[in-house]
Amino acid sequence: MQTKAVVTAPEAVEVDVLLFVGFEKEGDTSPLSQSAAALIGPAAQWFSDIYTSGEFTGKPYEFAVLHNPSGLKAKRVALLGAGKSAAFGAPESRRLASFAVRHFRSQAQSVAFVSHDAADAIIEGAILGAWEQDHHKSTGKRENKITEFTLVVPGGDSAAAEQAASHARILAEAQNFTRDLVNEPGNLLPPRKLMEAAQSMAKEYGLECDVLDQDRMKQLGMGSLLGVSIGSAEPPFLVVLKYKPAAPKSADHLGLVGKGVTFDTGGVSIKPADGMEKMKCDMGGAGAMLGAMRAIAQFKPSIAVTAFIPTVENMVGSRAQRPGDIVTSMAGKTIEVLNTDAEGRLILIDAITYAKQQGVTHLIDAATLTGAIGVALGSVRTGLFSNNDPLCQKIIAASESEGEKMWRMPLDDEYREQLKSSYADIGNIGGRAGGACTAAMFIKEWVEDTPWAHLDIALTAYLDDQKPYTAKGATGVGVRTFTRVAMDW
Ligand code: BES
Ligand code: MN
Ligand code: ZN
Repeated sequence: MQTKAVVTAPEAVEVDVLLFVGFEKEGDTSPLSQSAAALIGPAAQWFSDIYTSGEFTGKPYEFAVLHNPSGLKAKRVALLGAGKSAAFGAPESRRLASFAVRHFRSQAQSVAFVSHDAADAIIEGAILGAWEQDHHKSTGKRENKITEFTLVVPGGDSAAAEQAASHARILAEAQNFTRDLVNEPGNLLPPRKLMEAAQSMAKEYGLECDVLDQDRMKQLGMGSLLGVSIGSAEPPFLVVLKYKPAAPKSADHLGLVGKGVTFDTGGVSIKPADGMEKMKCDMGGAGAMLGAMRAIAQFKPSIAVTAFIPTVENMVGSRAQRPGDIVTSMAGKTIEVLNTDAEGRLILIDAITYAKQQGVTHLIDAATLTGAIGVALGSVRTGLFSNNDPLCQKIIAASESEGEKMWRMPLDDEYREQLKSSYADIGNIGGRAGGACTAAMFIKEWVEDTPWAHLDIALTAYLDDQKPYTAKGATGVGVRTFTRVAMDW
């Protein structure tokens, strides 16, 4: 599917479906968007008629279609419900464009979306909407007939519109790259394959790539990470991807750490069978950081960014670690592994110690870490934990403009009590109460004073059901936010 942005009059666009945004009617304000209102002739009459008849109310994802509109070159005109105009911004435009592609993909070859604003969000939405994981199906694939998606800007600067489109393509394609990785099953994407995917992405986009294998990690004393991987026949890796700006504007060095558990059985503290297949998404944090690095490599921000991707498989077997085992992390602290299913934190902390040793000044980690974050926030918002208000603000600002909803969660010292161990420096679980908070607290123990933020994406990285605007499965959450954080640093 090709995407482009053009500045032209909507009535002149030759296309199968020409889309306009229609808001919910509120008081005396016009329910038609600026662009729809600009339309002339019989089509404008149709717009007001379908509102008056009650056929169309403007609720989100409602739509109405008119064939052979007179006075327009388009074969069909469609009005897309956009909800209340006051609440409509770039994130809503992105979702609406996604919805449009998903709705018309079986019916049209060319689609054009008329809008004055949010050019990049609309192109992103279209590319994200086209994503589907069908490559393992030999029959019954969902066909996308749309070969051309055009954003029609009724007036303004065409260079700016095309610039927004090319920015959008880079970002949305990076996010779809993440989704492809995250959706891939455990057998087809073991740690070695994830490492190779990172390597080839790095080569393609000119990033430096360093891979630490099991022996190197043993030398470094990463007993916490290695304890998780020991139960698997698949060897673990720590992948390091480096972006260095040509002209750095600050001495800051951002470290992005992503949980890369390619499959999480729970280990000896095994998970219930029901729904376990979803644990292929347990490298969602790694995927997000790799997607962000792919975009960062192309956008070239002025800050140094290094990604650290610990990747392992959490399996059961005769060599697997046992509940009660005590491991020593690279930083020297000992951990009592009270539950082998709390493995994400065990691999993250050794990667964090290594990142600090490599000189990062700020840390962001993303991990599908706890079911408990889903109890707290559902699949609507990602949990954000941070020991540093300015960094936290940067992330919140970036996430809001990118439409990746987050919510700050607490890190009070009292949560540390729940992690006490009778035999080691710390236990790896803190009980049912506040499970997402104690998990974050565990990581904080290794972060120490480095400004840090932790994103628990357990329920936002993978959707169990499709939505009007998105496919079921991997979402690629975090890619846009982390990329923007680096760009706006
Ligand atoms: N990978 C899981 C968390 C998860 C849950 C991801 C649901 C995606 C969807 C993580 O490794 C895990 O198993 N966490 C445990 C922690 C517990 C043992 C303290 C959990 O959430 O139950
Ligand atoms: Mn687990
Ligand atoms: Zn896990």
